[in-house]
This record gives sequence, C-alpha cells and structure tokens, in this order.
Amino acid sequence: MTPETVAAAAPTAAAAAATVSAPAPAAASVPAPEAAATALVDDPASHRVLTGDRPTGPLHLGHYFGTLHNRVRLHDQGVEMFVVVADYQVITDRDLADRLAEHTENLVLDYLAAGLDPERATIFAHSAVPALNQLLLPFLSLVSVAELNRNPTVKDEIAHSRQSAVSGLMFTYPVHQAADILFCKADLVPVGQDQLPHLEVARTVARRFNDRYPHADGSAVFPLPQALLSDAPMLLGTDGGKMSKSRGNAIALGASEDETARTIRGARTDADRRIGYDPVNRPEVAGLLQLAALCQDRAPEAVAEEIGDGGAAVLKRTVTESVNEYFRPLRARRAALAADRGHLRRVLRDGAERAGAVAEATLAEVREVMGSI
Ligand code: TRP
Repeated sequence: MTPETVAAAAPTAAAAAATVSAPAPAAASVPAPEAAATALVDDPASHRVLTGDRPTGPLHLGHYFGTLHNRVRLHDQGVEMFVVVADYQVITDRDLADRLAEHTENLVLDYLAAGLDPERATIFAHSAVPALNQLLLPFLSLVSVAELNRNPTVKDEIAHSRQSAVSGLMFTYPVHQAADILFCKADLVPVGQDQLPHLEVARTVARRFNDRYPHADGSAVFPLPQALLSDAPMLLGTDGGKMSKSRGNAIALGASEDETARTIRGARTDADRRIGYDPVNRPEVAGLLQLAALCQDRAPEAVAEEIGDGGAAVLKRTVTESVNEYFRPLRARRAALAADRGHLRRVLRDGAERAGAVAEATLAEVREVMGSI
C-alpha cells in the first residue's frame, strides 16, 4: 500500500479549480506525476500542513519545484503550517552532523526567502521539541521490525550511506518522522515521491494508535495524514540524474547568477544541434529543457521549439537566463535576510516554543489514552 495522495482534477497547477477534500478515497497505488496533487485546497482553515527537510546543506531547485513551491502556495492560501528542520535525521546515514547550526539557519533562510512568513508558519528544529521526540517510544511499539526492514527509501539510503554499519536510527527514523507529522495532527504533507513510504508509515502508526488507544468516547487521537505530491516532474540534475546535492549536479536556491551560469555551462548534453524534448533518448537535454520550462511556466516542447537548431550553447544560455530571472526576487530576499543571523535564530526559538506547546498537548492526550499516570 502507498499513501493516499490528493488527486488533481486538472493537469496543470494553474488550473486552480482542483481541490483537496478530506477524507480522500483510498488510492491503490502511487499516481503518475500528472495525476498528482495541486497545492490548492478547498477550505484552507480546515487543514494543517507539516513538512520538513534535513539540514545537510542548501536547498536546491529540485527541492523548490518538488515541495517548497507547494508549501508556499498552501501557506499563501492561509493553511496552517508547521515546518520541521529535521536535525536528528541528519545522523541516519553519517556519524556526525557537519556544521549543524549553520545548515539549520540556512534552511530557515531558504524558507523565508521562498516566502514563508514565520509569524504564520511555525518553523522549528525537532531536537528543540522534547515532547515530539517522546512520541517516538509508543509509536515504535506499533510497527514490526519486518515492516521497518521493507521501507524502500531506507533501503536506498543504506545503499548510498557513508557508514560501514547501519544504525538503529536508520531503520527507525521513518517512525520518528511519523512523530514529526502526528505531534501537530497534520493532515497534509507536501513531499517528493521518495517520501511516500514514510507517509505510509505515519498513516500506519496513526491508524494502529487510534485502534489500540481510542478516547473514552471512542473518538480517534490522530488524523490520517495525506501526502501532497508536486505536479512538477522530478527535476534532473546537470548530469541527467536525479538532482541531488550529494551527486554534485544541483543548483542551489541561493546560488549567485554566476554560479548558476557556471553549473549550467558544465551540464552534460549531446552532440545533436537540433534541440528536442525526448526524455527517454536524450535525458540530459530533456532535463535542461524541463528546468527552463518550469521557470518560464511553459511546456518543455515549446522551449525546445524556440531553440531549434541552436544546439547546446543556446540551450544552456536559455536555461541560465530562465533560472536567474525566475529566482532573482527570491535570491534578493535571501541576501537581505542572510545579514541578520540573530533573526534566523529567533525564528527557530519562537517556532520551537509554539511547536512545544502543541507537542505537550498531544503528548498529554497520548499519555491519557494510554493510561499513563
Ligand atoms: N525525510 C525528509 C527528507 O529527507 C525530511 C523530513 C523529516 C520530513 N521529517 C519530515 C518531511 C516530516 C515531511 C514530513 O526530505
């Protein structure tokens, strides 16, 4: 089973009519990207969103088009939002969290630059919210070791891990992530495809907890969270593979225009001067076209058509200009905010305080239904 995703009625995000209705019907499989969600909801006040990122380095354009864009749109509609900087999750696949404070602050910087308003969005590091972490213990009792072993995202991360031995945290962090989501009773979770197995864990934990520990009146403690997939296709990096910081093929949100130009200049292409959109046979060229298309809000075929026989040089120039133009306002905001590290730390402190109050209330409820003293 995969988590229910919110199906869009229309193929483009611009078709604003698509709505999210809760509860959604159970979906049997992961929908094709075209069938994935828009980030527009019916009744914004009835939803609560939680998402997050690991503070391992700067966010890149794959994060932006994959989930950040969706978050900001939901936020702009007035949906209540929690954003977790998942600092304990950094040490799942490495021994030490390198430059943790710096990465944490920079993540906040990326969020604010992208348009999250810290007065309305609660941004916090999960290590700063003890009651959230305490939920991990009862939650771990609800899943089997066999289930933990089967998680495909965890398996993939183990395959790419920098460690010689796999830690207990690597197997159990999806349950910790369930605590990230359930502590605030979020019902919508904007994530990329790779996170769908984790959403399924959160749903399983919520369902089993509710069955095992109902309130005295029979009501359930936790809502079942739904994944909200981006309608943007997965963004490819400059080598034609998945865009990822660790593969060195990513363009950071906060990169300068020169850095962006340099990265794109180094991108892999092919020798065919005629530019066409063919993801199967020409993945590198298709990836670049897709990036320009997302920034221009056009179809990749139209971008290809315009470049015509211009070859890789014109393609790269087009992509560079599109990216730099699209991200210019965000990058200007980022530069202005970057000067005030105190502000970033205050955002995290306020966020931890607000998230802490919510987590305490949920933990009190959990303790009550479990019969704790
Ligand atoms: N695992 C997510 C990632 O690597 C980050 C994350 C942690 C998260 N907790 C979360 C995402 C809760 C969504 C909800 O990107």
